[in-house]
Amino acid sequence: MKKEFAFFEGKIVPIEEAKISIKTNSFHYGTAVFEGIRAYWNQEEEQLYILAGKEHYERLLKNARAMFMEIPYTADQLVEITKELLKKCEVKEDIYIRPIVYFKDLKLTPKLIGYTPEIAIYLYPFGAYLDPEKGISAKVSSWIRNDDNSIPSRYKIAGAYVNSALAKTEALMAGYDEAIMLNANGYVAEGSGENIFLVRNGKVITPGLNEHILEGITRNLVIRILKEDLNIEVIERPVARSELYIADEVFMTGTAAEVTPIVEIDNRPIGDGKVGTITKQVQKLFFDAVRGKVEKYKNFLTPVY
Ligand SMILES: Cc1ncc(COP(=O)(O)O)c(C=O)c1O
Repeated sequence: MKKEFAFFEGKIVPIEEAKISIKTNSFHYGTAVFEGIRAYWNQEEEQLYILAGKEHYERLLKNARAMFMEIPYTADQLVEITKELLKKCEVKEDIYIRPIVYFKDLKLTPKLIGYTPEIAIYLYPFGAYLDPEKGISAKVSSWIRNDDNSIPSRYKIAGAYVNSALAKTEALMAGYDEAIMLNANGYVAEGSGENIFLVRNGKVITPGLNEHILEGITRNLVIRILKEDLNIEVIERPVARSELYIADEVFMTGTAAEVTPIVEIDNRPIGDGKVGTITKQVQKLFFDAVRGKVEKYKNFLTPVY
């Protein structure tokens, strides 16, 4: 990124001008709703592709509406603003885009009505978040995933990430790379910032959307790749913790995590402890798709230049 700008209070401004007050309501109560979007640089085409920009902004707008944070933009307009921002910053590398909707009022009281929502968007240079090549180790967390009826895990709410931060910190301090959280019913939910998939006997299993998880956009794309391109059955159902240890392969998906294999859980190797074959096939198609190398997934990409 050659120059650093942000979209702030309706305009693209130098990053130093994109500042909020310590009195900002959402800063105190975690009521902001945000997104994480990646854009991938394709060197041969000298093109930057925003991955699933429209899908991310549609999720943001829906989540925001559910939190009484109506903002005066459509998903298409937000994609256009993002393109403009990327151009203004002269981005010619992989980048992470962080849009956030927050209540800008300088007032206290944790509530969702009577306040003014605002959107900001900034860019964050971000390489691989975990280790998609070697795979990672994970710990089943002692922290239970936010129940959808307490802080909706289905929405990307800033305050919900206290739960993720507690689990991730516990995992890191115990020497693991990532946390896997169970839901209050004792079934596997997701990682601190990723959805989770298991391979058993050639079939792929993933917790369903009512298991107190985020409705992951990468999860959707990976399910399509598995079913349509690899002809593999995908089953959405509750997953017990004990199933993780006997799975042939486990991997995580997310905008930050992309497709990351888990090769060890709670000190037990998964399969032979190496990245599995189905995981590798999914990764190959995923990484080709995000750089515009798979024709059928090009409609998920927005070219910036
Ligand atoms: C808790 C949680 N689950 C799952 C995901 C994956 O979602 P997506 O693929 O839409 O990035 C994320 C990432 O943003 C997340 O924070």
